[in-house]
Amino acid sequence: MENLNFFNFLFRSPRIIFGRGKISILGEQARILYGKKKNKKLNAFLVTGKSSLKKSGNLNRILNNLDKANVPVFIYDEIEGEPTTLIINRGKELAIENKTDVVIGIGGGSVIDSAKGISGLVTNGGIVEDYHAGKRSFDKPGLPFIVAPTTSGTGSEVSNNAVIIDPARAIKQSIRGDKMMAHIVILDPELVLSCPKKYTAFSGADALVQSIEAFVSKSSNYLSDIFAIESIKLLLPSLPKVVNDLFNLELREKMMLGSFLDGLAFATSKLGAVHGFAHPLGVKHNINHGLVCGLLLPYVMEYNVELEHVQKKYAYIADIAVQSEIIDEVDLKIKDCPDSINDKAVWIIELIKKIFEYCEIPLHLKDIGITEEDIDDIVKDTKGSSLNNNPRDTNKESLKQILLNAL
Ligand SMILES: [Fe+2]
Repeated sequence: MENLNFFNFLFRSPRIIFGRGKISILGEQARILYGKKKNKKLNAFLVTGKSSLKKSGNLNRILNNLDKANVPVFIYDEIEGEPTTLIINRGKELAIENKTDVVIGIGGGSVIDSAKGISGLVTNGGIVEDYHAGKRSFDKPGLPFIVAPTTSGTGSEVSNNAVIIDPARAIKQSIRGDKMMAHIVILDPELVLSCPKKYTAFSGADALVQSIEAFVSKSSNYLSDIFAIESIKLLLPSLPKVVNDLFNLELREKMMLGSFLDGLAFATSKLGAVHGFAHPLGVKHNINHGLVCGLLLPYVMEYNVELEHVQKKYAYIADIAVQSEIIDEVDLKIKDCPDSINDKAVWIIELIKKIFEYCEIPLHLKDIGITEEDIDDIVKDTKGSSLNNNPRDTNKESLKQILLNAL
């Protein structure tokens, strides 16, 4: 059944600054968070990845900028792979020791989620495990918090949750709550130029999956549809081009804007079964989130396409693809788009498979080491709000069948 609450939604958003070179106002923005206390020295706690910011030369640029604004920085560059309880709990201790006034997260989704957790734990106390999976929420606002993504994909910069792995319990769960939103988001496409091909493809696939899942989610609504459609218009044609043209700033700009819009879409509409599967697959088999999402999307679409209202939305995406002339531009070998809604919906699933194949995303679970024996275990742990918002209801048997089809 279609969503009867189409005109009901809750929208949250931080202050957003979008544009080429905008990272140069980071220090100024940190000061704005403190109003008129112009002479006070602010201690920043910069959360970032192990090496990419350094290698790209952006770290020096950022440190100079903060120095000019009288903002000394402690650099916490321990983030590698997806965020863990250990990394965030340790970050919280260091942030307190360094008398942090403002937390800055510059990196991919893992860095941003880690920075969210650190900012919230400093003011609310305790450790991640106290809050994991809705046990408790942050009652107090976190430390003032600025983020600048260096990948285009997760939408984490505008979401109110952080997905965190607890290695001791082998689980991957969220901490969620409105007090976790960043205060300021700087979206500078120049920061993404150094993102390598593989991660550009993975994070771009994640963004496209999120925009499509948000578009057909049971909780999709008037506002999320606007964001999801505009996001798909940007991402669908740009993704297969940017993977072979990494320094094209115009394409990077479109990917960043598309990713930001999909973040706004799913923040109010939630996601679907692809993201339901992604958590157990990611944590138990240590597979990149974007890769697993891209791999599974066509199989989940094949399951969802049975519903008439989903067919209409998939056909709408097919029209977007035709209007963008993506097929000719990257020479994807696929037959012309048919006329009927049903055929268009099937056609777009094939096109998306081709796009992901072109981006070197594996098409089958066996290509990433998953076997038939693993499937029951994955199905057992597939649950949560993403799964509940999948447009077509699922059960253990249907989830198993989707994974068998993807093998
Ligand atoms: Fe995702």
